[in-house]
Amino acid sequence: MSLAPAETDVLEVRNLKKYFPLQEKGLLRRTIGTIKAVDDVSFTVRKGETVGVIGESGCGKTTLGRCVAYLYEKTAGDIIVRGGGQVFRLDQLNRGNNSEFRKIVQVIFQDPFSSLNPRMSVLRSVGEPLLVNGLARGVELEERVADIIQRVGLSVSHLQRFPHSFSGGQRQRICIARALVINPQLVVADEPVSALDVSIQAQMLNLLKDLQQDFELSYLFISHSMSVIRYMSDRILVMYAGKIIESGSRDEILRQPLHPYTEMLLKAVPKVSKRMSQRLQDATSGEPPDLLNLPSGCVFHPRCPFAKDICREEIPQLQTVSDGRQVSCHLAEELTLQGVFD
Ligand SMILES: Nc1ncnc2c1ncn2[C@@H]1O[C@H](COP(=O)(O)OP(=O)(O)OP(=O)(O)O)[C@@H](O)[C@H]1O
Ligand code: SF4
Ligand SMILES: [Mg+2]
Repeated sequence: MSLAPAETDVLEVRNLKKYFPLQEKGLLRRTIGTIKAVDDVSFTVRKGETVGVIGESGCGKTTLGRCVAYLYEKTAGDIIVRGGGQVFRLDQLNRGNNSEFRKIVQVIFQDPFSSLNPRMSVLRSVGEPLLVNGLARGVELEERVADIIQRVGLSVSHLQRFPHSFSGGQRQRICIARALVINPQLVVADEPVSALDVSIQAQMLNLLKDLQQDFELSYLFISHSMSVIRYMSDRILVMYAGKIIESGSRDEILRQPLHPYTEMLLKAVPKVSKRMSQRLQDATSGEPPDLLNLPSGCVFHPRCPFAKDICREEIPQLQTVSDGRQVSCHLAEELTLQGVFD
């Protein structure tokens, strides 16, 4: 993936690391290990683009998203966000001066049940970012909330109601309205449909696509499901144990995966219709690694059907194989892996 800074890059992430100290229980709470949740990750997101982040549970997707949204302080590396004619270096932000940044980057979380304050009406919940950022109040605020609430498929009659009276799908629509009401440029969507009933996941994904067009949004779209990622993404980052192990355009990744783990994720995808009318659980074989006790060499080798001696001994580096295409596998040039066609 090209890392040359471009004016069209809304987000530029370079060599990002986020490590969590593991502390022992008890009074002393000594540090007994380090979890490298995100370890030397670089990528860009262009204006209007959806970059999908895929990988199994614990590979670091949420940690990556939270660093980008400045909900976690990074351990090392650079995160640069461009929007609204400004350039934000996350190094230079602090808790007291991030309100301009918050207007540019918003987050949609997985769980629409815990994301909304149960004591706030829809009007207050969705209007709060406008009020807090000094963007609108009074009648203007009500008009902007009414507008966005209709764009997400709800009605103005819902504005005085409270979260408990909505279904999961409706609550996620409210969360999306709350994220978009201040016209952000980049939305980090962390498993935005995973908590929803399968029957409404497709509707919600289509809504996010429609809103992307209307608002010229860029998405960093996180999911453990290849079905969802392939449906939503322009480009795909495949994560394993805190690192990107393959990246490329959606079509390249789908048709010609270069890493055996990507092939495994693709094989786990059930057949789906074009409009995602049905989606089932994706399932891979073997267990994700223990981040505190990573295998030697290529960390995927215990699960890899192609592993050779070199794989157990040497760590493969992430190599650029063509413009916008990267992979870390010793055998990437020898293997012919199976993709999918759709
Ligand atoms: N606040 C934290 N403190 C300590 N460890 C953490 C913290 N947040 C995440 N981790 C660890 O970092 C690793 C990556 O977690 P993360 O939540 O980013 O994974 P994920 O890919 O989002 O997984 P999932 O698909 O289950 O949501 C895990 O080993 C997790 O236990
Ligand atoms: S480096 Fe070896 S073990 Fe790792 S993915 Fe490639 S072939 Fe498999
Ligand atoms: Mg997560």
